[in-house]
Amino acid sequence: MKALVCILLLLETFVFVVQQQVDGGLNENEISQQISSEDGRQNPPQTDTLRAEASTDSQQYCNLGIPDIHAALRELTATVTEQKANIRELTATVTEQKANIRELTATVTEQKEKNRELTATVTEQKENIRALETQLRDEMNKKNEEISNLTLSQVEELRKENRDREIAFSASLTQSSIEYIGPFSTEITLTYRNVFTNIGNAYNPITGIFTAPLKGAYMFRISVYGHGGITSTAAIHKNGKQVVSAHDIQPQAQDRLNSSNGVVLILEVGDVVYVRLWSGNRIVDSYNNHNTFSGFLLFPLR
Ligand SMILES: *[C@@H]1O[C@H](CO)[C@@H](O)[C@H](O)[C@H]1NC(C)=O
Ligand SMILES: *[C@@H]1O[C@H](CO)[C@@H](O)[C@H](O)[C@H]1NC(C)=O
Repeated sequence: MKALVCILLLLETFVFVVQQQVDGGLNENEISQQISSEDGRQNPPQTDTLRAEASTDSQQYCNLGIPDIHAALRELTATVTEQKANIRELTATVTEQKANIRELTATVTEQKEKNRELTATVTEQKENIRALETQLRDEMNKKNEEISNLTLSQVEELRKENRDREIAFSASLTQSSIEYIGPFSTEITLTYRNVFTNIGNAYNPITGIFTAPLKGAYMFRISVYGHGGITSTAAIHKNGKQVVSAHDIQPQAQDRLNSSNGVVLILEVGDVVYVRLWSGNRIVDSYNNHNTFSGFLLFPLR
């Protein structure tokens, strides 16, 4: 019982000393010195009453196995010192880790900010792309419409051009039962009044004159018929000059005469072509249409 109380008192002293060391920063040697001085009763207790009591108690009761207890205390002191170093080390590690965490947190925050910025940029770019797409679509539609309009206007122009190129006429002298023209003392222009065709209205059935509306190559043809012993000759004229003629001479009154001729002429716009009956000649026509004047544009020239 006494031994137990003694150990308790010693432990109390030890705890007190350790406490003092933790608070006041005594080193291992100082602790063991203090403990041994208290146990060896060489020096009286110095500090406070608690310590004095503990020392007095141990002086009164603890006079058994002192060297063993000292060894145990030294060992404990060493362990405590070691643990203190460990704690210091751990504290340093924790401080370091805290700093690392702070750094990481800062990095994460920074990355988050960057992500937000990137997301904003991507959103902006998407909007830009959408706007560009819309713009392109609008422009394409407009261009398509323009091309379509252009094509339509070109087609219309070509149609008009083709309509202008549609030039062809054909006419005979008369539709009556029988008609004699000539003989006259001078040459006359024949008026082919019975019009079969007059596309483009370039032939005038009142004057008998064809006027070229386009520059081009034109084909003309006449057919001449007569009887009763009088010569029948007619000729194609261009701008006042004879070009080709269809000529018949009949020696006897009962002979039937017919002749024809044709020519391709290059005409400028406004050039005129018509048929002249030679002076002293006579032609005969009827609903049988023996005498004809025809012409058409082969192709335009530039
Ligand atoms: C195409 O023609 C239509 C009808 O003439 C017109 O309303 C439209 O503006 C034209 N479009 C373009 C792009 O020229
Ligand atoms: C046309 O003239 C030829 C030669 O003179 C004659 O043989 C023919 O019968 C004439 N034709 C007509 C329809 O008069």
